[in-house]
This record gives sequence, structure tokens and C-alpha cells, in this order.
Amino acid sequence: MANVRSEYTDSVNFYGQEDPRELVERFGSPLYVYNEDMLRARCRDLTGLSSHPGFRVNYSAKANTNPSLLKIIRSEGCVVDAMSPGELHINQLAGFTREEITYVCNNVSAEELKNASDNCDMVSVDSLAQLELFGKMNPGARVMIRFNPGIGAGHSEKVVTGGKKTKFGVDPEMLPQVQEIVARHQLQFVGVNQHIGSLFMEAAPYLDAMKVLLALAEKLLSLGYPLEVIDFGGGFGMPYHKYEGQPRLDMTELGNAIHACLSEWAEAKNYNGRFFIEPGRYVVAECGVVLGTVYATKNNGPHRYAGTDIGFTVLARPMLYDAFHDVEIYRENGKPDTEVVAQTIVGNICESGDILAKDRLLPLIEQGDVIAMLDAGAYGWVMSSTYNHRLRPAEVLIGSDGKARLVRRRETLDDLTASLVLE
Ligand SMILES: Cc1ncc(COP(=O)(O)O)c(C=O)c1O
Repeated sequence: MANVRSEYTDSVNFYGQEDPRELVERFGSPLYVYNEDMLRARCRDLTGLSSHPGFRVNYSAKANTNPSLLKIIRSEGCVVDAMSPGELHINQLAGFTREEITYVCNNVSAEELKNASDNCDMVSVDSLAQLELFGKMNPGARVMIRFNPGIGAGHSEKVVTGGKKTKFGVDPEMLPQVQEIVARHQLQFVGVNQHIGSLFMEAAPYLDAMKVLLALAEKLLSLGYPLEVIDFGGGFGMPYHKYEGQPRLDMTELGNAIHACLSEWAEAKNYNGRFFIEPGRYVVAECGVVLGTVYATKNNGPHRYAGTDIGFTVLARPMLYDAFHDVEIYRENGKPDTEVVAQTIVGNICESGDILAKDRLLPLIEQGDVIAMLDAGAYGWVMSSTYNHRLRPAEVLIGSDGKARLVRRRETLDDLTASLVLE
């Protein structure tokens, strides 16, 4: 393989029998590439966290909804969440059944709540107002309620979802009002859920929040609510700084702690229901990269820029959250280069914030190089857009046979204009 910097993907045989430059030639640039074996491995890390019979991995589909990936995730024994009619539809397309889909939404219409209740075993609402609306639309139905445990965690303020400074969940202090609405609409209050935020690398806040939800669940059981599901949410982090040797979450230690917490509680309370965790990123981030082409390089004063076709319309996380993605560089007849220079990698969108990687110490990037932004499988394609009327990229999956196949074609100009009413 022609490479200047590819130790990470080489070490995990990410491209199987394929070569990233050839993939770009065959399928075009930019291009999302996924690896099935890595996806399966991450699913197994999670399903292996606890052997409690009620333990389930409820994959949070917002991270990546490609049906080919969803099918693999389902085949690994995971169930799935949906937070919009679109996610629900695509989960169904991938084969998830009503019993396997939990709808976890906020601030939605009466029609959406009705559709969710008609198509999903569990529907979670996250405010008193939404509970009221749900009850009006679905009297007597099963409902799950999202509580806010007062604990938040995450890699950016924008992804912390627990605590008072966020819009999510019902304050447990409001239980009397919840009870009143549930009783008035004769709802079956069968589940509780929470999600404290995204990308924790230390287990403590998650474990603390689990205990808070279990204490609430205990109270609800004692009040006679037949809880079938207790869902602790997602947020499990993975290392984005691979080239700096960032450690992984210790899944053995985390699994021991989660398993002990669940099993002891279930035994003490004689609880036979299910326990969900709801990870998105951990499942899919590492099995995906986005490849792009360097079309121009330049110096602006002391700053060196590498201009690529990976605008924030292709990978939004760096622009949205100042998120870090490691970079690899592939070059025809290239060889590993240990000399590094500070470079800023940018995209092709008309905004000065269109920056993928700022002042990164990397081997000198040249015109014609193909680069990979690693760990782009979560919140990658699903956050892509057509701003500047750029077309969204294709996606390929490298199967367990090591060969790549197309799982989403590149958009066309016709896709771009399909919803227009031309006069
Ligand atoms: C309700 C809910 N569950 C699960 C997730 C998945 O989070 P992560 O991808 O960090 O695991 C999210 C992310 O926003 C969420 O809002």
C-alpha cells in the first residue's frame, strides 16, 4: 500500500483486501468507508458487558442509520432506538421489529407520538407537556418517561444532556404531576430512561447516574408501576486520539461494575424486567473513516493549508464541536514520513470555519494525496448536508471477506432538486 501515515489502519487491517486510493478511484471522493469486523467487535464489547438475562444493548441509531450497518448490529443481538419518524422507518427497513424499537423523542407533535405508539413497543416522553399530549393521543397506552438524573457528562457542552442546564428529561421532583397525568389517561407506565451525555471516558458519572435511576425505579415499583425497562442511556466513549495512544475505556472493569450494579439490584428488588444501555458512538465510530482528496495546498503567511473535498458538509463534527479526528495520508508510491510540519486541513465550503484539523503536526500533505479522517463512523454521514449544494458522499462497507461493496450511492444533481416545485 502507498502510505505516508497509515500505522493505525494497517494495524487493524481496516481496508481488508482493498487500498484506500483505489477505493476513491472506484467509488469517488469523498467517501465513507466502514469495516464490518470492527463493527461486530464493538457490538460484542457492549453485549458482553453483562450476562444478566435482562441486559440489552439498545443501539442509538442517530449515530449511523445505514441499513447495512443496522442489519449487522441487529445480527449481533442489539435492539435499537429511534428519535424521529425517519429513524423509525429506516430501522424497520433494516428488519427491526416493533418489539425491538424504542422511540426516544423530545418536543414532537401529537401525530408523531401516535405514530410512535402504533409502531414501537416503548415510547419515551421527556416532559410533562409531552406526557399529557401522549396521553390524549394514546389513552391506555404503554409509556416510558425520560428523567433527568441531575448528572451530566460529555465531550462538549453541546452534548451534555443531564443536569439542570439542558432541555432534557423530567425532574424527578415532578413525580406527583407525572402520576396525575398517567392516572388521568390510564397510561401504563412501563419504563424509565435517561441519557447523561456523550463520550465519557471515565465510568464514574455513568455509574452514579445508574444508581440515581435505580433509586427512582425502586420508588416507582413500590408505587405499583409495572416497569419493564430501565434504560440508562448511552455516551460510552472511544479514543479519538489514537496516534497519541489514548487509552480505551476499560470494558472489563466497566462491565464488572455495570453487571454487579444490575444483578444485585434486580435480585434485591425481585425485578425480572430489562435493563438497557443506549450507546451510539461506541458502536459505530471506529468502524468508519471518511476518505477525501487533497486538491490544493498553500501557504498563507506562516500557515500551511491542505485543501480537500471533505467540507463540513461531509464531516460536521470538527466545525460543530471542535472535535478531533486523527488523520492518515495515502500517496502513490509514498513512504512513511516521520518529519512533521504544522498544517491546517480544510474543506471546500465557503466559510472560514470549514476546518477539519487545525495546526496539526503531520507529514507534509501534498496535492493528489488521499487523506482519511479516522473514527468518522458515528455522527458522520448522518450529519452531512447539502449546504453550498454539494452532494452527499457515497458509503462503502468492507465485509468480513475483506472486499468493499457500495451501501449508499453518491447523491446526484437530481437528488438535490427532487423536492423542488419548479414553476
Ligand atoms: C437519548 C439518547 N440516547 C443515546 C444517545 C447516544 O449517545 P452516544 O452516541 O454518545 O452513545 C444519545 C445521543 O445524543 C441520546 O440523545
